[in-house]
Amino acid sequence: YVTIQENTLGFCRVEGSVDSNHGGFTGAGFANANNASGAGVDWSINAPASGVYQLEWRFANGASDRPGTLKINGANVTTVGFPSTGAWNSWTTVNTMLSLSAGRNSIRLEATTSAGLANIDWLAI
Ligand code: GCU
Repeated sequence: YVTIQENTLGFCRVEGSVDSNHGGFTGAGFANANNASGAGVDWSINAPASGVYQLEWRFANGASDRPGTLKINGANVTTVGFPSTGAWNSWTTVNTMLSLSAGRNSIRLEATTSAGLANIDWLAI
């Protein structure tokens, strides 16, 4: 198992706002990053051992694809697509596999385009 820094949001920080105006999210709100390239959402997770883990995000996107650059401990590792879900209150998940180091890892999802990110509910590992 992996522990994610505990709070009621499902993320640690957003460069934007914590919103609750589109139903279907869990916890206290979702992350609405600014509509700007480079705007991001950050997590801090503690991995029990180095290895490959599945990262799964829950998101909604009422616009067109909003890809995000994934940075682990400051390094770009991949780009994750967050395609349209048809409406801002329609939530789904996307996942990817990647390597984490033992101990604390910073995980940052950063908008690849000027449209910003999809609205993000949580990250599960
Ligand atoms: C709308 C929507 C927001 C969303 C935004 C966007 O304003 O209400 O939740 O984040 O579009 O395009 O990013």
